[in-house]
Formats: sequence, structure tokens, C-alpha cells
Amino acid sequence: MISLTEQWKKHQPLVKVDWENIVINIGREIEHPMQEVHLIENVDILQYTTAWLLRVKEIKFSAWDKPEVSFPISELKPGTYKAQAKCNLHWTWDDDFTI
Ligand SMILES: [Fe+2]
Repeated sequence: MISLTEQWKKHQPLVKVDWENIVINIGREIEHPMQEVHLIENVDILQYTTAWLLRVKEIKFSAWDKPEVSFPISELKPGTYKAQAKCNLHWTWDDDFTI
């Protein structure tokens, strides 16, 4: 059985924000596998509001994609967000970021 630490290393999104782009890699120390039987299915970008988390962007993946995504920072308004990655076998994992 794989430990939670091992799961964290390959599932936890890592969000990097610079002046132009937001870059999200799944996972932290180990790139998540992308196979038809085991893959990251999607990454949702959720914005914190006063009452709830509002999904503002969804990026879908196939087994042929790398488990990473980048998009222009101009697509999001200033605020605090959660990047939530969904593995088809190992639940969802997230990381917060602010722009
Ligand atoms: Fe997984």
C-alpha cells in the first residue's frame, strides 16, 4: 500500500504564479502517471467568494496529456483561488493561490 506521503508527492498540485501566467503541475515531487487506467481527469479552478467556492475554469485531460496546465493570468480576476486536481483513482487534491 502506498503511503499518504507518496500519494501527496504525486497528486498535490503545485501552482506557480508569475506576471503573465499561472502554471499548475500535478504532483509535487513525482509527476502523476497519465494512463488510461490511472490519470488526472481534470483540474478545476475555484474562486473563493464570501459564501462558497465558485468554479471559474475547468481543464480536462486525457491519457496522452502531460499532467500540467498553464494559462494567462489575465483570465482570472484578482482574488484567492483553489486549484483542485481529480485523479480517477485517488480522490481530489488541491492547492490555494492568490493573484
Ligand atoms: Fe492517482
